[in-house]
Amino acid sequence: MATEAADRVTMDKIVALCKRRGFIFQSSEIYGGLASTYDYGHYGVLLKTNVKSQWWRSMIQERDDIVALDAAILMHPRVWEASGHLDGFTDPLVQCLGECKRRWREDHLREQQPEGELRCPECGGELTEPRQFNLMFKTHMGPVEEESAVVYLRPETAQGIFVNFKNVLQFSRKKPPFGIAQVGKSFRNEITPGNFIFRTREFEQMEMEFFVPPDQAGHWHEYWLDERMRWYTSLGLRTDHLRLRPHAADELSHYSSATSDIEYLFPIGWSELEGIANRGDFDLTQHARSSGEKLEYVDSATGGRYVPHVIEPAAGADRAMLAFMVDAYDEEQVEGRERVVLRLHPKLAPVKVAVLPLVSKDGQPEVAREIYEELRERMPAEYDAGGSIGKRYRRQDEIGTPWGVTVDHQTLEDRTVTLRDRDSLEQDRIPMDELGAELERRLAAPWRSPKLSA
Ligand code: GAP
Repeated sequence: MATEAADRVTMDKIVALCKRRGFIFQSSEIYGGLASTYDYGHYGVLLKTNVKSQWWRSMIQERDDIVALDAAILMHPRVWEASGHLDGFTDPLVQCLGECKRRWREDHLREQQPEGELRCPECGGELTEPRQFNLMFKTHMGPVEEESAVVYLRPETAQGIFVNFKNVLQFSRKKPPFGIAQVGKSFRNEITPGNFIFRTREFEQMEMEFFVPPDQAGHWHEYWLDERMRWYTSLGLRTDHLRLRPHAADELSHYSSATSDIEYLFPIGWSELEGIANRGDFDLTQHARSSGEKLEYVDSATGGRYVPHVIEPAAGADRAMLAFMVDAYDEEQVEGRERVVLRLHPKLAPVKVAVLPLVSKDGQPEVAREIYEELRERMPAEYDAGGSIGKRYRRQDEIGTPWGVTVDHQTLEDRTVTLRDRDSLEQDRIPMDELGAELERRLAAPWRSPKLSA
């Protein structure tokens, strides 16, 4: 059942589910929407927050060689000169000279049309010569729109880390190998955004810069490739929908000496989920040269000094959330009716348990509400008394709630409830007083996508 259903996942189904269940809406929808820009609703906020929390957990809580940072989005314009983004952060832009006048990325078109002269995929028209288009959003700081007031919205969070290297080194008492982690918004004026939240102009990144002695860079690059793959699979992504792809020399970013992408099999095909780059000493050297500050590590014991090399696992929070949703999406027939279910890892699920009175009378809502109020002290819970029980379960299945508690007439007699499992649909009758502990046990237990075994 499940593999076939998994193969039926389309981006349209994910978009429809996100709208129907309040995960994600088109931005400024009442004005016709702003292209490729999205607003996150209640369950979307909760799911993305869980993705980010799990990332922070793996970077900070589960180890002691990484510290956190939250740098400003607006940075001194010289940062982008030194980092190479003003000159090098460009994509080749071509425009249709035919009917539609649409703009395209030449490198993307070349992948689709490997032979001969490129034509517009929309109307078949001729295309202009490519020109390098800088992806940074430009704005002005202060009331006067003059050249000296130009600032940029950061296109990556990484530079906030490099310019704070010295501050962090001084306070944190760390020495290489150590890392600085950051989560935050980045902005890119993409020529062809699209595929829902896969490529947008405003998005969130989860980046970590790991500073290492130069001769250890190769080792740590391999280490972080393994670690990051492990993170995705530990949160339920199917291993056969994940792969590593090393970049060819001609696709490396201007700062990178080696990059491998973790790719996921999205409905649009294999696509980048996260990039893991060896940035060498490019960034620290550039900023040291440009700012005049020494950005190096001095070993107080030996007096030896060096510019650390950097290994960078750089992930997108929105793109990771999309991958988790795509991987979790399932459809199956249950008692002659179609059920749509998000088989999310319980740690990622926006709501862990729903408490539902079977009927809205006979004291059931009051007992259910009491159970809910106790459970929400332990984990995100929801109380839902409106509509038929079938509809309420369908709603919880679609937002990925792993467990449902039903209060019925028997509950009032013997203080037991039924505990329903989202994936197996098994129902256990258990004492009300044991619910909290039982749910905590299930939440901590290892979890494996049921779609894997199919
Ligand atoms: N600091 C390195 C860096 O930014 P990147 O490969 O350009 O590397 C890292 O971006 C991750 O950020 C990507 O793997 C992707 O998950 C996410 N990302 C990049 N551009 C994006 C966009 N336009 N929309 C959504 N996510 C994006």
